[in-house]
Amino acid sequence: MIDRRRLELCYANRLAAATYPLYTSLLSSPAVPAAHRPTRRQARGLIHKVRRVAKAVPSASHPLEHLAMVQNVLRVEPSVEGCVVECGSWKGASACSLSLGAAQTKRDMHVFDTFAGLPQVQEADRFHVLLDRPEVHTYQRGMFAGALDEVRDHVTRFGAIDRCTFHSGVFRDTMPGWDQPVVLAFLDVDLRDALEDCLCALWPMLADGCAVFVHEAPHHEIASLFYDDAWWRANLGQVAPGLAGGGSGIGLQWMEGFWRSSLGFAIKNPPTDGYHVRPPVDVA
Ligand SMILES: C[S@@+](CC[C@H](N)C(=O)[O-])C[C@H]1O[C@@H](n2cnc3c(N)ncnc32)[C@H](O)[C@@H]1O
Repeated sequence: MIDRRRLELCYANRLAAATYPLYTSLLSSPAVPAAHRPTRRQARGLIHKVRRVAKAVPSASHPLEHLAMVQNVLRVEPSVEGCVVECGSWKGASACSLSLGAAQTKRDMHVFDTFAGLPQVQEADRFHVLLDRPEVHTYQRGMFAGALDEVRDHVTRFGAIDRCTFHSGVFRDTMPGWDQPVVLAFLDVDLRDALEDCLCALWPMLADGCAVFVHEAPHHEIASLFYDDAWWRANLGQVAPGLAGGGSGIGLQWMEGFWRSSLGFAIKNPPTDGYHVRPPVDVA
């Protein structure tokens, strides 16, 4: 008898594999500023490296999620000053991929982690409810431990180590006072408590029109923060920005009947004046 789950997984993997060539076009498209734009051949090389990371380094994220973020790094105009930041690296897989995007755009990259796994988990973060699937994720101290030497070694072998600076310790100690402009931040930190610390430090330094990506977009406890006007007004002096992909992740992977992922993003002060305005449709 055919195992339905195995069959679906097999199709899902094939669909993911079929998506990679589309990234060749996206990465080398005119939407990428000429100064950063790889040729199609170079874009294929970049994609190959990102897929190689996924095979070689244990990862909590998917190479298609990495490519979605790398594409975003490449699209930022070179005139916009800033670095790439990752908070939460575990064994360094996503740091490897993002550092390749940083190298392509000649930007610096900063990686923050305890390098000893999750710190003390607050009561409110013990259980997260996923909105799009019947799952509850649970957390405890020490999960996702990747030592600094191990992460450094992976980035040396599979990423662009010369672009990277590592900051070891809990975010509450290492991030306050962050004063460098940022063009993209990837916050893969599992815990709402940790996410709040990262946003308080990084959001003020994020360039307008640039994005913060999070990796727990389907989690109610994470997505809801991006709609919490009271929290944003009190901590960052603005209304909540919302979260693209909140509740199910942006649709990158076929998973049990839906296109979804764990990735969501919020854009700082999106330039809505330049957005296409769809006129009202004359329907009765
Ligand atoms: C899910 S893992 C990151 C996975 C990685 N980005 C990947 O794609 O494989 C979460 C990481 O967040 C880190 N982390 C969570 N809360 C933290 C905090 N308050 N301070 C520093 N690091 C924290 C953990 O140490 C862990 O490495």
